[in-house]
Amino acid sequence: FVIVVDFGGQYNQLIARRVRENHVYCEVYPYNKALEKIKELKPQGIIFTGGPNSVYEENSPKIEKEIFELGIPILGMCYGMQFMAHTLGGEVKSADNREFGKTPTKVDTTSPLFKGLEEDQVVWMSHVDYVAKVPEGFEIVAHTKDCPVASMQNTERKLYAMQYHAEVLHTEHGKEMLHNFLYEVCGFTGTWTMANYAKSAIEDIRKTVGNGKVLLALSGGVDSSVAAALISKAVGDQLTCIFVDHGLMRKNEGDEVEAAFKDSGMHFIRVDAEKRFLDKLAGLEDPEAKRKAIGEEFIRVFEDEGRKIGSVDFLAQGTIYPDVIESGTGEAEVIKSHHNVGGLPAVVDFKGLIEPLRNLFKDEVRELGSELGLADYLVWRQPFPGPGLAIRVMGEITKDKLDILRDADYIFRDEIAKAGLDRSINQYFAVLTSTRTVGVMGDFRTYDYTLALRGVTTTDFMTADWARIPYDVLDTISRRIVNEVQHINRIVYDITSKPPATIEWE
Ligand code: XMP
Repeated sequence: FVIVVDFGGQYNQLIARRVRENHVYCEVYPYNKALEKIKELKPQGIIFTGGPNSVYEENSPKIEKEIFELGIPILGMCYGMQFMAHTLGGEVKSADNREFGKTPTKVDTTSPLFKGLEEDQVVWMSHVDYVAKVPEGFEIVAHTKDCPVASMQNTERKLYAMQYHAEVLHTEHGKEMLHNFLYEVCGFTGTWTMANYAKSAIEDIRKTVGNGKVLLALSGGVDSSVAAALISKAVGDQLTCIFVDHGLMRKNEGDEVEAAFKDSGMHFIRVDAEKRFLDKLAGLEDPEAKRKAIGEEFIRVFEDEGRKIGSVDFLAQGTIYPDVIESGTGEAEVIKSHHNVGGLPAVVDFKGLIEPLRNLFKDEVRELGSELGLADYLVWRQPFPGPGLAIRVMGEITKDKLDILRDADYIFRDEIAKAGLDRSINQYFAVLTSTRTVGVMGDFRTYDYTLALRGVTTTDFMTADWARIPYDVLDTISRRIVNEVQHINRIVYDITSKPPATIEWE
């Protein structure tokens, strides 16, 4: 497998995903822990990511020179290349202008990196510093008009580097270049597939659990659903899933989750807690207060159920890899207090934690879900926040408002699916604002709610752009909602990206 050394670049997770797409397993570690991990785990390949720093800055990320002596093939990208060049005695300079965007490049097709490719390539550049002189023993294997060293190699020491970003799609043959490093240089054969993963994960779970009992909090989201399917394949009715239906789900969603798991062989418990949650939310308007109330009530409901179950041996969680990766540049500021199902129920005694998706990216979790035979509507479910529709009804929550929103949101989703946009828009939903405006229906004056539609495209949900939904699709959605859903007489579309807005409104 490969270790990806994170120097703080914005594409660090993307690099890891590209490696996995090539059917090679990889793990990401921050640069200051990487050497220790590499010595311990002995990967067959190492990739350095880019990063925002210049090698000349006092606090720029560095790794002991020893890493280059281990005999493990290394691919340095962007900052990773500059770091390699600087550390091994080459020369890094700062350019007057940033080289940015798609850039024509000449590559040396005798290099293993460019095997099977044409001499003329288009690559994605984004840098100010550049390698002006390669270290001794290295040769230049690609250059652009402004960048004398777009790629360099030392085949004897198995050290390779690229100034550009092979991981982004704008580098037209980036995938092949990465593939070449993994297969031609490191010698991987591509055994990382979800079918193999499912087999070995099921065996592992059986070994760990033995005859024990496992408890999982199921939210109906992709991660907990796939975790439930995997664990129930492994240990059948030794697994109990508790699905807390807080009454803040989308239309039909609670029933869909129940239908998907009721007959799966596990113990499935659906707790109808709508009233408890609505009582707790009554009178609350502030988004953070609503979030906190829901998070706390979740734990209470879980505790009550847990008491009935008594002791279990293992608590299972659908934690996935992006939650586990520690960034090379430290923690980001908390904007919203996130609530995730899986908060530990204090009254349930358990010996251990099982997190069978801990090493998987979201797209791999989906693939695994399909591999395990989960229905498409569960596998391709868009992310849904733990507090549910409570943070999509602005201000105070009532059952009536939730029902209005559910109907409108259902139509929105239905039309997006009919337009074939459901997999290209990464998240889309309706928001019931607390603004009421005057309208006219037939001959009558109306004074009803304004509904906002939100659709975003994003890879990581940290940043997002508003989705360019075609006007005619928006038009159909708008007409249907105002005709079919009472108390909505105006519809607006949210055209802010994140930042400065967030994806959810609260
Ligand atoms: P924001 O609104 O912060 O949302 O841009 C980013 C992504 O996170 C989802 N989200 C949540 N997910 N618990 C969750 O599990 C939460 O409390 C929560 N709040 C927001 C949101 O839907 C989007 O995908």
